[in-house]
Amino acid sequence: MEINRTSGTAGERAFLVTVLLDDQGSYQADPLEELADLAESAGAKVVGRLTQRRQQPDKTTYLGSGKVEELRLQAEAAEADVVLFDNNLSPGQVRNLEKALNIKVLDRTELILDIFAGRARTHEARLAVELAQLEYSLPRLKRMWTHLSRIKMGIGMRGPGEKQLEVDRRLAEKKIYDLRMELQSLERRKERQVAARSDRKTVSLCGYTNAGKSTLMNRLTGSDEYAKDQLFATLDTRTRRWHLPGWGPVLLSDTVGFIRDLPHQLVAGFKATLEETRQADLLLHVADASNPHAQEQIASVYKVLEELGIQAKDTLLVLNKVDAVPDRGALDRLLGLYPNAVPVSARSGQGIPNLARAVSDALSRNFNDVEIEADVSNGRLMAYLSAHGEVLSRQFHDDRVVIHVRIAPEHLGPVDGETGVTVRPYKQNGQALPDGTRIVPLTSTDDVDLAETA
Ligand code: GTP
Repeated sequence: MEINRTSGTAGERAFLVTVLLDDQGSYQADPLEELADLAESAGAKVVGRLTQRRQQPDKTTYLGSGKVEELRLQAEAAEADVVLFDNNLSPGQVRNLEKALNIKVLDRTELILDIFAGRARTHEARLAVELAQLEYSLPRLKRMWTHLSRIKMGIGMRGPGEKQLEVDRRLAEKKIYDLRMELQSLERRKERQVAARSDRKTVSLCGYTNAGKSTLMNRLTGSDEYAKDQLFATLDTRTRRWHLPGWGPVLLSDTVGFIRDLPHQLVAGFKATLEETRQADLLLHVADASNPHAQEQIASVYKVLEELGIQAKDTLLVLNKVDAVPDRGALDRLLGLYPNAVPVSARSGQGIPNLARAVSDALSRNFNDVEIEADVSNGRLMAYLSAHGEVLSRQFHDDRVVIHVRIAPEHLGPVDGETGVTVRPYKQNGQALPDGTRIVPLTSTDDVDLAETA
């Protein structure tokens, strides 16, 4: 049987395999559930499952030899086209397994790369995936050729020799170099773009794949973009303006979903895409509270953030999908583990006002709470304060206005000392208001309209 390694898994019948090693963590309750989701996301149909527990993987075939034979029979009976391993295999192990099973074998990384390749829409995401695929397949080039030579020799032709393999390897290396260069220049451009927005607070959504980040982004920014129930629907960062009630406009970014053991080739390739996350003032870590593995998924996301070197960011955990949590006890357990988390339903809107308040509080940590007195005709100052601070009230008296605002020290600096402008600490109960004072309560629509930056 010819093994076609070039095609993806779309439309294929997949047989799932995992080897549980003794030192493996708590995913063991249903070890193949996530792989099944991944397989379906890649467009494959799951036709069988096999699990083996071992102390250590077998060096040549990862599974023990008895299990390999069992797998061969089961996969044949299920008419599988591909065997998907939840573990990562060495090129040699894949080669040996394919020989023994006479069927295509993909490991976890190849499967994830296959899904990413199918989802990449922008130039940048395509480059990142192509680079990750090439880097992953370079050590495996030989294995492709070995199969090919076996097949060609079978019909009496000379197989491609080492010379062809060498040409191929050099072409791949050159391509990898070119892609790295192009991605680096995109990364630098992105860094400049994101840094240029530093006068605006930025909030970045991150979280396990399918946690509901895009749905939450749509809910918060009022967009109705379609959220798909598939893994990694979002590969490209999208940034939109969010009118945070009582605060004003902030920039909200949606980023690629994370997953347990995200292939490191992908982490590197998606650096530019994750620039928003790196530079954000606040990370909103969205978790699917209705998922029985919520706790493990939260831990996996923290691990990926650590790999990206951004674990130290100010982070707010959002427990999403509370409408779908099977029982109240499950949610209470999560809230007991993460007492500062904010429970919401991006779908129904439940908890969204609390989330807005929590974000606003988090963004105003270290803020100065001040009263600024100025001439009412100073429209430029009003616009500046609305754009950079949280304006809480305005009091008008004759031709003077007193603005109560919470503002970051770096944004207060340019105002303090301006002629005709007085800045003083805000006093909770205020002094007696002079006669003729008019207090104007603020609504979120008072925000000055700033140009779209996304
Ligand atoms: P990736 O692109 O894979 O990172 O996914 P994501 O985190 O952006 O998730 P997305 O918003 O695409 O939502 C995934 C699925 O969860 C979709 O089917 C949503 O409709 C569903 N979903 C999102 N929020 C909620 C919620 O609050 N309640 C329920 N019941 N479902 C939700």
